[in-house]
Amino acid sequence: MSTPFILSPSLLSSDFGRLREELTALEAAGLEWVHWDVMDGQFVPNITLGPPIIKALRPASRLVFDVHLMVEAPERYLESFIDAGADVLTVHAEASTHLDRTVTEIARLGAKPAVALNPHTPLDVVEYLLPKLYMVLIMTVNPGFGGQSFIPYCLDKVRELSDMITKQNASTIIEVDGGVTPENTAELINAGANVLVSGSAFFGHPPYDERLKTFYSAIA
Ligand code: DX5
Ligand code: ZN
Repeated sequence: MSTPFILSPSLLSSDFGRLREELTALEAAGLEWVHWDVMDGQFVPNITLGPPIIKALRPASRLVFDVHLMVEAPERYLESFIDAGADVLTVHAEASTHLDRTVTEIARLGAKPAVALNPHTPLDVVEYLLPKLYMVLIMTVNPGFGGQSFIPYCLDKVRELSDMITKQNASTIIEVDGGVTPENTAELINAGANVLVSGSAFFGHPPYDERLKTFYSAIA
């Protein structure tokens, strides 16, 4: 069955003591992607997890590992994360000075390159890169913490990015991350989002198969 959009649950809101079980439960519930929030204590205040944890859990899951690096100078770690099992690897535009080189390197190493933009970062920074990008992640909160409220102006940004992609006839997909709930799902999908990351609004509401249906029924 083809799904109307992809839901990528953010493990940040899961039980870190039971990551293997969480991955198994997500797959059993019909999820296809899982979102790993990597924080370095510099780009954002928190520190979460790194390549060894992802690598240890890679054999336990067939989910698409959607790895979001909230890390300064991420070019230092591309190989480690791809070797660990990242399928889609996202770096922040604000954290990488030579962004073209960074995304080219992600593709060369065999992962799908993606760029994340903080809420206030203009879309121009990805305009010339779209042909190289599998995905653009529009942050809909300021990165660093789960459970924050969606920033409304980001909806216009998703629409504008969607127009930019159409104009360039590019195949880049759009992910949104932060404050996503079943209540704002319809407007995000209508604006052009293809992948929704959800942390607190997903993991706080088991069972996961029912919660996935709630997100899908939001656009029914
Ligand atoms: C924020 C992270 C998000 C976050 C989403 O820095 O990138 O992935 O965990 O969590 P919610 O859905 O609770 O806003
Ligand atoms: Zn994230």
